[in-house]
Amino acid sequence: MKKANIKNFKKTLSKFSTGITVVCVKNKNAIYGKTVNSFNSLSLNPHMVLFSLGNYSSSINQFSKAKFLSINILSNKQKKLSENFASSTPKLENINFIIGKNKTIIIPDCIANLECKLTDKIKKGDHMIFICKVLELQFNDRLKPLVYFNSKYF
Ligand SMILES: Cc1cc2nc3c(=O)[nH]c(=O)nc-3n(C[C@H](O)[C@H](O)[C@H](O)COP(=O)(O)O)c2cc1C
Repeated sequence: MKKANIKNFKKTLSKFSTGITVVCVKNKNAIYGKTVNSFNSLSLNPHMVLFSLGNYSSSINQFSKAKFLSINILSNKQKKLSENFASSTPKLENINFIIGKNKTIIIPDCIANLECKLTDKIKKGDHMIFICKVLELQFNDRLKPLVYFNSKYF
């Protein structure tokens, strides 16, 4: 075993394969989306999930003040969307967003979408943990997931 430092910590965590989500909020008619792989299930009953965002993120304030948000789980055909929303200036004009029941912004053609109410925020280390109650959902059994492993898409 090696002593943990930033470089080997990041490399070690990259050996844990994850799916990819884009979390979206709408504030004052502006849409904010962020590529996130820290998404996880939290509780079955009530239905709860979580994800974390870096305090340094350009849109942390937009997510912090949201009441509702969407979590969009990407399919293997949506790598470009993941790259787009990992940028500080994502392009939104070619995405036909769908409006959810709670006025959330849903990305079409995903493997699954969750419409959530933000219930808790916990500041830990250099990230904020967002805890969400799931209100509405949909999934598509015919699509395959976009997978992230070793800092590459599969
Ligand atoms: C595959 C992948 C997963 C990511 N997961 C997260 C995450 O869970 N939390 C986070 O804060 N940023 C995550 N990021 C980084 C953000 O998408 C974004 O690049 C970063 O916040 C910098 O942009 P910003 O300063 O405009 O927010 C991820 C990026 C990629 C490519």
